[in-house]
Amino acid sequence: MKIATVGRGNIGGGLGDLWEQAGHEVTRLGKDGGDVSGADAVLLAVPGGAVADALEKVQGLEGKTVIDATNLIGAEPPSGFASNAEFVKSKTNGPTAKSFNLNFARLYDQLGQAKSRPCNIWSGDEEARDTVEQLIRDAGYEPVYAGGLENAPAQEAAIKLFFGIVQGGPGPFFYRMAPPEEL
Ligand SMILES: NC(=O)c1ccc[n+]([C@@H]2O[C@H](COP(=O)([O-])OP(=O)(O)OC[C@H]3O[C@@H](n4cnc5c(N)ncnc54)[C@H](OP(=O)(O)O)[C@@H]3O)[C@@H](O)[C@H]2O)c1
Repeated sequence: MKIATVGRGNIGGGLGDLWEQAGHEVTRLGKDGGDVSGADAVLLAVPGGAVADALEKVQGLEGKTVIDATNLIGAEPPSGFASNAEFVKSKTNGPTAKSFNLNFARLYDQLGQAKSRPCNIWSGDEEARDTVEQLIRDAGYEPVYAGGLENAPAQEAAIKLFFGIVQGGPGPFFYRMAPPEEL
């Protein structure tokens, strides 16, 4: 698959590496933007408050399957939208999914050592399922479907719970989300 990442930091760069190892062709874009018209799938991995600005600088998004990995930390979705993911869909009119926002990039290099595949929760359009679930598996996770794009606001809000769980110490749920070696 040809993948473009909008954002090439911990998430965009890290997933780009994992997907290349799985045989995909990855183009990484940074603050200067670029053209994604040749991509089969686009990953959005910029700061949560920079989504509108980032998409302004990207050409060729119309109709694309987009996976939005952003979290809203000290930021709100663009005005009139309950989530970044729904804003993304309004700009692309293509299959849209929320995923990879509840898994920490610092564990990417340990995924291969996990005794069982950690879960990766995604919500979004049915039309995005095949692409999203393949890319979740190819990154080393097991996909867990959490409903349509109307659930993206809840998935974005869930990062607060995950931070709370991590700060509270490992429990049975955390064991399913992180390689045991990390604990
Ligand atoms: N780190 C994690 O474990 C983690 C986990 C789940 C979700 N997330 C979410 O994923 C997103 C990315 O996190 P990250 O840790 O990968 O961040 P990061 O390492 O700081 O990388 C951010 C990327 O976004 C680009 N960028 C920044 N401002 C931009 C703008 N205005 N327009 C276009 N591109 C812009 C940067 O471009 P340049 O390369 O040109 O500087 C960089 O490539 C955030 O929303 C974060 O909350 C992070």
